[in-house]
Amino acid sequence: MLILGIESSCDETSIAIVKDGKEILSNKISSQIEIHKQYGGVVPEIASRQHIKNIAAILQESLEEAKVTLDDIDYIGVTYAPGLIGALLVGVSFAKGLAYGKNIPLIPVHHIRGHIYANFIENEVELPCIALVVSGGHTNIIYIDKDSNFKNLGGTLDDAVGETYDKVARVLGIGYPGGPVIDKMYYEGDPKFLKITTPKVGEYNFSFSGIKTSVINYVNKMNMKKEYFKPEDLAASFQQKVVDILCDKVLKAYDEYPVNNIIIAGGVAANSLLRKNLKEQGEKKGIKVFYPSMKLCTDNGAMISLAAYYKIKNGYKKEIDLTLNGIATLGIDKI
Ligand code: KG4
Ligand code: ZN
Repeated sequence: MLILGIESSCDETSIAIVKDGKEILSNKISSQIEIHKQYGGVVPEIASRQHIKNIAAILQESLEEAKVTLDDIDYIGVTYAPGLIGALLVGVSFAKGLAYGKNIPLIPVHHIRGHIYANFIENEVELPCIALVVSGGHTNIIYIDKDSNFKNLGGTLDDAVGETYDKVARVLGIGYPGGPVIDKMYYEGDPKFLKITTPKVGEYNFSFSGIKTSVINYVNKMNMKKEYFKPEDLAASFQQKVVDILCDKVLKAYDEYPVNNIIIAGGVAANSLLRKNLKEQGEKKGIKVFYPSMKLCTDNGAMISLAAYYKIKNGYKKEIDLTLNGIATLGIDKI
């Protein structure tokens, strides 16, 4: 079974072709990071225009690399929510055109499901499992039962973790996206330098805005006094606090929902400290911790093909849905 996956919810235009839910024949990604960098974040209108400019060429490249034609494709999966509305519309309209023109069934995919199923390409994930979803727009702990039903155990009450990384990076003046840079700076700074209070929020919920404010206040104070500080120390203190909180919460969820596997999903799953610490702490409890390879952590079409594959495997019936109502920012409970 060949599934073409289309992703355009934010600043990556990506189209992949995946065979039988395991073999990635192609996964072409056109990233707009260099364009949005100069504005310190994603500009929605520019993102939509870039998707329009690139999407047809990305399809062509993806088909060529996979050495197939549209006639070989069995299903098309497309991200329909959540994301930037204009950006989503480009991918969905393009997918609808292909589906209609070539009579290929279209499978709408929730972006977060895509991030979660990215783990299933390279690993044998055993259900039930717990998924820690950490991206630019989401921070959630999700329990996936043996029948692949999702239960949201909790999420952020304010900023998402990736968003917090990006905002802290902006204050430190180190560019966009902040995650990869802060992750590198961690190893050159002192994680104990800045005392950051752990927010007191309910069991599986998160709050990152206070942590962000602690860093911002420190930077403003030092700038006002015209005193020197080492940005690496702030990056390290920030990352340490965030990763400690994520690990603590997800392992607490394990105490209530014992599982053999924990998976990390979303762009922040690329974080080296989170990968290392959760794996080590999980192994101490006999849990296997999985995360996708780096290229599959951030937005890509292969994860959308995968989520579409599991949707079909789990009994998705509707052959073709050309209405795709609800292209909007859906809550995590709708995934
Ligand atoms: O999943 P993603 O590609 O887009 C959304 O769906 O939001 O995630 C992007 C986020 C950005 O906020 C970026 O700063 C963060 O993932 N990120 C990281 C790392 N690499 C990317 N955060 C922490 N450490 C990293 N190594
Ligand atoms: Zn994403």
